[in-house]
Amino acid sequence: MKKIIVANWKSNPEKISTAISLARASDKKGAVIAPPHIYLDIVGKTLNNAFLGAQDVFWEKYGPYTGEVSLSQLKNGGVKYIIIGHSERRKYLNETDEMINKKVVAILEENMKVILCVGDTADVHKKGISAVKRHIEKQLKADLKNVSQKMSKNLYVAYEPIWAISTSKSNSLGKADTPEDAVRVISYIKNVVDKKIHGKNIKVLYGGSINIKNVKEFLFEDEINGLLVGGASLRPKEFSR
Ligand code: 13P
Repeated sequence: MKKIIVANWKSNPEKISTAISLARASDKKGAVIAPPHIYLDIVGKTLNNAFLGAQDVFWEKYGPYTGEVSLSQLKNGGVKYIIIGHSERRKYLNETDEMINKKVVAILEENMKVILCVGDTADVHKKGISAVKRHIEKQLKADLKNVSQKMSKNLYVAYEPIWAISTSKSNSLGKADTPEDAVRVISYIKNVVDKKIHGKNIKVLYGGSINIKNVKEFLFEDEINGLLVGGASLRPKEFSR
């Protein structure tokens, strides 16, 4: 199975000119570039090889939803992948599983690809693997309500342990999960999704402090179908390598 590497730029960079040069430098086959909404159009026009991704969407196609960007707007703008339920949105914007579920269903009904983020907090992580599994299973069950087997071909899940996010600098290993522990959780995610919606061959990515030093160990794991990269995706030389 081919692996994908998704660049989540989050609320970066500050200027459109930097976004354009970042997009040029990151435009590789197998990559998905997810800039902030404001740069989607220009980044989409800049990419020739990578797919265009978005970091969120509203669940309706259009209508009176001030400040939101709709599904049709993203689809018509060339977006192929949409990240949903990122822990930063759950934390800072109080996004609930109910909202996330509406978005997931709406995206899959449009035949677009969704990258659903799930992950454990440091407190859950400290309690051990059984607690982590219970936490992730609860998120998956709520977030995948009304998702059918047929829809699951466009479903990606990203396992992002919250305690491992944003700890990495290019010259250190940061606090990424170990590939072995990530694989344990990712296998469990695949089982849960299979039981819930009979979604065989579901693709699960890992995210959290991936950088040039640790990337290979994660990519060599067969069970990990790709990576969701934050900080390192803003360092173009590192990301393209
Ligand atoms: P970092 O790679 O900066 O830890 O971010 C991971 C992430 O949240 C990607 O969505």
